[in-house]
Order: sequence, then structure tokens, then C-alpha cells
Amino acid sequence: MKPSRIITVINGPSLSELGRRETEYYGTTTQGELIEMIEKKASIDGFTANFIQSDVEGEIVRAINSSSGSSIGIVINPAAYSHYSIAIMDAMAAFDGPVIEVHISRVFSRESFRNNLVTAKAADAFIAGAGIRGYLHAMDILYELAEMTEV
Ligand code: DQA
Repeated sequence: MKPSRIITVINGPSLSELGRRETEYYGTTTQGELIEMIEKKASIDGFTANFIQSDVEGEIVRAINSSSGSSIGIVINPAAYSHYSIAIMDAMAAFDGPVIEVHISRVFSRESFRNNLVTAKAADAFIAGAGIRGYLHAMDILYELAEMTEV
């Protein structure tokens, strides 16, 4: 598999609990179902998706850093870390390809602390409030941005 056909999808803390976690914000799709949707779309589009979920900031930083050179781009939902992790923002900025940040819920219509979007400063594009489908839209944007930066 050529590196140019691999994308990385990263989910942050407690997104493993999708399907039962605050369904009024995140819906009823489980993380397993989300992975299936991502893998199916990637394979139709001619890509392989590497999916990583972690509740640990350093593991997310490592996953981003180790994707450089092996993955054409990253779709990431840093979850609560979005609001304060400079470490994840720095890793996103250092990644040598496009990074799309996704939020399932409408973060701007919720508590005011969710308006503080730290990691998004290093994202090439940002999708919030589109539900689970936001990941699939982010993949399409990722392909386009990756093509634009191809030499
Ligand atoms: C979230 C929004 C964050 O504020 C929250 O901490 C999450 C999920 C979203 O997908 O809407 O865990 O990133």
C-alpha cells in the first residue's frame, strides 16, 4: 500500500462511548459503526483509513507525529482536548499534510468553554455540528486538500 493512499482518523477522549454518551449531542451511532462507515467510504474512495481512539493526550500526540510520512492527511476529533491542548495543536501544526478537525456537536451553541478552540488553530478546515456525517465530509475535504498539495 502506497503511503499516498492512507489516511489517519483520530478520536479523542470518551468518543469510544459514542452511541450511549449524551445522545442528545452525539447521536446514537456507536464508535464501531462509525469505524465501519469510515472504512467503507475510504475503500470506495480508494484509500485505507487507520483509525485510532485514545483517552490519553500523549498517545494522540504520538499518533499524529507517527502519521507524518505514512499518511496523506488526518481527520481528528480531539474531543475535550480541543479546548486546551497546546500539545495536540503543536503536533497538528507539525504534521506534513492537511488536518481536518471535526466536532459532532454544535460546539458554539453549548457551554461557553467549548467556544475556546485551541487545536483548531492548527487545522486546515473545521467541521462542527454535522453529526457523525462530519467525519465523512471531512474525508472528502482531506482528499481535495491532499491532492492540492501533491507535487
Ligand atoms: C466534541 C465536543 C467537545 O466539546 C467534547 O468535549 C467532546 C466531543 C464533539 O464531537 O462535539 O468530547 O468534540
